[in-house]
Amino acid sequence: MTTADRQGRLLAISDLHIGYAENRALVERMRPETDDDWLLVAGDVAETVADIRWALETLGARFRKVIWAPGNHELWTHPSDAVTLRGVARYEHLVELCRELGVTTPEDPYPVWEGPGGPVAVAPLFLLYDYSFLPAGCATKEEGLAYAHGTGVVCTDEHLLHPDPYPSREAWCRARVAETGRRLAEIPAELPTVLVNHYPLDRHPTEVLWYPEFAMWCGTRLTADWHRTHRVAAMVYGHLHIPRTTWLDGVRFEEVSVGYPREWRKRSEPPGTLRRILPMEVGSGDRGVAP
Ligand SMILES: [Fe+2]
Ligand SMILES: [Fe+2]
Repeated sequence: MTTADRQGRLLAISDLHIGYAENRALVERMRPETDDDWLLVAGDVAETVADIRWALETLGARFRKVIWAPGNHELWTHPSDAVTLRGVARYEHLVELCRELGVTTPEDPYPVWEGPGGPVAVAPLFLLYDYSFLPAGCATKEEGLAYAHGTGVVCTDEHLLHPDPYPSREAWCRARVAETGRRLAEIPAELPTVLVNHYPLDRHPTEVLWYPEFAMWCGTRLTADWHRTHRVAAMVYGHLHIPRTTWLDGVRFEEVSVGYPREWRKRSEPPGTLRRILPMEVGSGDRGVAP
């Protein structure tokens, strides 16, 4: 092994969905490449607090640092979960769980990756969505939802992701975007960033969705310029269950999801493979596709 091989790596994964036994088995096998690796977990670990705890505790014991951003599935108040908290109270409960486990959350100071490809500030984000990625021909959330109900493609969030005490998920989203924008502006100007969010900051990754109306539950137009305004070295996201690399305005977008067994069984890459974010893989500039 060369000296370079022993240097740490900034790795990423999302959409572990360990409610599926086959996905839990993937997490049981996940290991760092070096003792100094960090792991970014971009949401959708599981639906129950017990499963979320198991996964983050398991990974936290193996990686030098684990950094988590919530997905919509963690925020569901699922009938199978003993924890019945809703909305902000549930999110805060998960943040407390992470602090107990030593896992970094969007509420903590942004750690700085000093390894190869660094230094960069690594910012886990919790931004949610606001229905502004509307289907073609729709001008409002109401029109978009009416269209989605017509096609039958309606996200389960409508039933299980409660915004309490906010009046709506879009109101919660707007508050998160405003507060997060303030936090990001405080990062020293000399530091590039790696932004980690369950949803893409720009709409382009949703353009390949099989059901385009699902984009309403996939982000917000409020962050459309963030990849340009926050010195972003890489934007890491999941949720779409379409793992790939794209480039927009010279910025790398990495969709790092595992997804459901019925999805990953069809792929050629071994399931549960961790995506290297930094240092950038040689030739990865050619790997992605333009949006
Ligand atoms: Fe997911
Ligand atoms: Fe998701």
